[in-house]
Amino acid sequence: MRIVLFGPPGAGKGTQASLLSEKSGAGHISTGDALREAVANQTEVGLKAKSYMDKGELVPDEVVIAIAKDKLASTGDAGYILDGFPRTVAQAEALDKALEELGKPLEAVVNLQVDDDELVRRLSGRRVCPNCGEPYHLESKAPKVEGKCDVCGTDLVHRSDDQPEAIRNRLKVYSEKTSPVLGYYENRGILRNIPAVGSIQDIYGRIIQAVS
Ligand code: AP5
Repeated sequence: MRIVLFGPPGAGKGTQASLLSEKSGAGHISTGDALREAVANQTEVGLKAKSYMDKGELVPDEVVIAIAKDKLASTGDAGYILDGFPRTVAQAEALDKALEELGKPLEAVVNLQVDDDELVRRLSGRRVCPNCGEPYHLESKAPKVEGKCDVCGTDLVHRSDDQPEAIRNRLKVYSEKTSPVLGYYENRGILRNIPAVGSIQDIYGRIIQAVS
C-alpha cells in the first residue's frame, strides 16, 4: 500500500492511518507526530516548529520535506501511509521527486471529506497519547481506562492546537494553502474522494474499497 491520507484537521487521517498500518504493515508517516516529537525533545527542528504549530500555521516546507523524505527512505515492501503530508503544492512536487528516486510511486490519494461543524466537534473532544500518537475522542472513541492510552498506558493530553482559536486558524490555513493540492492529484488521476462521516470501521471499509 502506497497512499496519502488527505483531509482537513480532524478528518480522521491519524485514526485511519493507524488502522491501515496495523492491518497492512505499511509504515505510518505522520509529519505532525514527527514534529510533536521534535518539540517534546527540544531539538533544533522542534524549537523552530513550535511557534507555527501552536498557532495552527504550517511549518516551513523545507523542514517538513526533509522529515518526510527521511521517513520514506526507511519504509519497506509493505509501503507507506502518509498522514498530513503533503500540505502545499511545493510539498506535493517534492514528494513526487523523492518517490521517483526511491522507486516507490504513489498509488492513490484518499481525501477524507467532513464538514466544518463535525471537524470542530471532533477536534474539541480529541485527546491524544503524547508517547505513541494514538488519537481518542471523549465521545466517539473513549479510552478503556479514563485518561490513559489503550496502547501504551501513557496519560492522554489535550493538544495545544486543539483550542478554539487555533482550530479556527487551522481550518482557514487548510482552505487557503492545503486544499489546492487536491487539484494537483485530480489532474494526475489518483484522487479518491471518501465521505468520512459515520463509524470509524465503516470509513475504514470505504478506504479499502477505494484503494483496491
Ligand atoms: P497534524 O498533526 O497533521 O494535524 P492535522 O492535519 O491538523 O490533523 P489532525 O491530527 O488534527 O487530525 P486527523 O485528521 O489526523 O484526525 P484524527 O484521526 O486525530 O499537524 C499538526 C500541525 O503540525 C499543523 O497544524 C502544522 O503546524 C504542522 N504540520 C504537520 N504536517 C505539516 C506539513 N506537511 N506541512 C507544514 N506543517 C505541518 O481524528 C480527530 C478526532 O476525531 C479524534 O478525536 C478521533 O478519535 C475522532 N474521530 C476520528 N474518526 C471519527 C469518526 N469517524 N467519527 C467520529 N469521530 C472520529
